Amino acid sequence: MSKTIIITGGAGFIGSHVVRLFVTKHPDYKIVNLDKLTYAGNLENLKDIDKLPNYEFVKADITDVDAIRAVFTKYKPDGIIHLAAESHVDRSITNPMEFIQTNIVGTVVLLNAARELWKDNMEGKRFYHISTDEVYGSLGETGLFTETTSYDPRSPYSSSKASADHLVRAYFHTYKLPTVVSNCSNNYGANHFPEKLIPLSINNIKNNKPIPIYGKGENVRDWLYVVDHARAIDVIFHKGIIGETYNIGGNNEWTNIDLIHLLCKIMDKKLNRPAGTSEKLITYVKDRAGHDLRYAIDSSKLQSELGWTPSLQFEEGLEKTVDWYLANDEWLQNVVSGGYEKYYQKQYVQR
Ligand code: NAD
Ligand code: TYD
Repeated sequence: MSKTIIITGGAGFIGSHVVRLFVTKHPDYKIVNLDKLTYAGNLENLKDIDKLPNYEFVKADITDVDAIRAVFTKYKPDGIIHLAAESHVDRSITNPMEFIQTNIVGTVVLLNAARELWKDNMEGKRFYHISTDEVYGSLGETGLFTETTSYDPRSPYSSSKASADHLVRAYFHTYKLPTVVSNCSNNYGANHFPEKLIPLSINNIKNNKPIPIYGKGENVRDWLYVVDHARAIDVIFHKGIIGETYNIGGNNEWTNIDLIHLLCKIMDKKLNRPAGTSEKLITYVKDRAGHDLRYAIDSSKLQSELGWTPSLQFEEGLEKTVDWYLANDEWLQNVVSGGYEKYYQKQYVQR
């Protein structure tokens, strides 16, 4: 094995796509998926690759100093790709403390473990922190977030991610830890937990339940297909300059209501329902507290310096996503019912 890489949060939505890409594209690397398996972690996401010889799963909590030190001592990773986080804005509004613990404290625990392990030789090592465009705050009608936009997070989620980003950069400046950060826009695709707008709406449309639209549905998000995010992470992990930040985005802005109209059209077609059936489920509900109006990202640095471009048009990606959810009803049912917890509890015991 030429490199050992710990990917944190590898059982989650984006992490599972990153793990799959690294395990299959880099058979000479050993990939260790380190995940606590919270409600959002689901090893079913990886059952197609979990028997491959270069993959290993470790159940651990990134806030547990002793457990993380033990994992680092055992595997001696050359690289860390850090995705583990509490990721849902609405949950951060009802329970901010969990976000502080995992997203901030957990990141520092990992930074300390990497620093301790690599203190005598940082050559060829890399701590890559995955973050969000939400750290930049909320845009008006125009403009784009660049890597030099000042941080202005508004939700407990984005504030916790912003804090983690600052700490990662502080470890680069203070201790010369070889770090890289990327900030990405909203992802969509397979394995997305059905509390987020797109999978929640797919599930509700399928079951003829209301599609809840916060406020007037005028908020804008830039959507990127999750596999394209995983590809960007592969490029940045290998070619990104130490100490740098890269924005990742789809150049693909949609108001929530326009996105839902498009989704409704696709769902009617796929479910053989008369045109206009799904639209009737749209229900305007109370707005999210502090709801950021618009996110939009300029990813030209990543595109021009490292040669990454998104591969899928949104319409095509959304249709693929719907196809995946309709073909994987068991996955969806297990997640909605919490049944997947039984799946992993049977297979893995607490460290
Ligand atoms: P997710 O909620 O689907 O998955 C998070 C994973 O982290 C889960 O597998 C969970 O079990 C694990 N985890 C949570 N707390 C942990 C802990 N204390 N110790 C170990 N593991 C723990 O999240 P996601 O949407 O895949 O996001 C992954 C990362 O990408 C996050 O850091 C998030 O901030 C960032 N990000 C997400 C998006 C997006 O659109 N989803 C966009 C940009 C950046
Ligand atoms: P979400 O998927 O939670 O991602 P984020 O908050 O990180 O952008 O939400 C995407 C957008 O959809 C956001 O503007 C909030 C809105 N939204 C709804 O209108 N209804 C919903 O039920 C959810 C979950 C989100």
